[in-house]
Amino acid sequence: MNNEYENDIFFEEYAKMSRSRDGLKSAGEWRQLKSLFPPLLGKTVLDLGCGYGWHCKFAAEEGAAQVLGIDLSEKMIKEAKKRNTGNSIEYRVCGIEEYEYPQNMWDCVISNLALHYIEHIEKIFQKVHETLKPGGIFIFNIEHPVFTAGVKQDWIYSETGKPQYWPVDDYFVPGARNTRFLGCDVVKQHHTLTQILMGLLNNGFELKAVEEAEPPEEMMSIPGMKDELRRPMMLLVKANKN
Ligand SMILES: C[S@@+](CC[C@H](N)C(=O)[O-])C[C@H]1O[C@@H](n2cnc3c(N)ncnc32)[C@H](O)[C@@H]1O
Repeated sequence: MNNEYENDIFFEEYAKMSRSRDGLKSAGEWRQLKSLFPPLLGKTVLDLGCGYGWHCKFAAEEGAAQVLGIDLSEKMIKEAKKRNTGNSIEYRVCGIEEYEYPQNMWDCVISNLALHYIEHIEKIFQKVHETLKPGGIFIFNIEHPVFTAGVKQDWIYSETGKPQYWPVDDYFVPGARNTRFLGCDVVKQHHTLTQILMGLLNNGFELKAVEEAEPPEEMMSIPGMKDELRRPMMLLVKANKN
């Protein structure tokens, strides 16, 4: 399976992002995402597409008894093992589609900014539902459908290079989008809001919270951050297994 996080140039550019250098406090969505987490003391936590493992580390620091972070990229897992280790944390190179999802195993499944790389998201919802214990919680943050819909996933710029507006196009055509991200060609998957939310409801989840990330005031000095408030970029969802 193709994964740009294995590409040296992309990997180096990703490492320069403020969220990669400074972790969760530099992630625009973290304030909102953090508030969705249940108490994790003594709980089991699975992180789908864990990257450097920031959320695994957070779960361990909150007292989780067992944390598993999976990611398709060997480079990302190697980095996670360097940066965010802990006695209760295990990392594994494994695709979100390939993980075995044992029945009734996890109290909490999280996924931050990885599910827009998955084509058949509903199948993953079904597997997550199976692997959660009764009452278990699924929290994820996915690129917002308004953000992923446009074929190029970029602003329309003025002649002087200022972002003019964000095009939403082909909204009802789910599937692959060939985008440019961090100077590389990256394939992401567009899912409509209906696919995401009904995908959860049709697979036995109860929706607990749906939020659209708004970067906090203190991050507005970061270049380009003010433009993030002109259109939704991330959709945060909390769902319970009944
Ligand atoms: C934007 S990064 C987010 C990493 C981490 N969740 C975070 O918030 O810091 C997306 C991650 O998803 C991983 N990824 C992409 N497609 C995947 C797949 N099919 N299975 C597992 N991981 C995948 C990438 O390797 C990358 O580490």
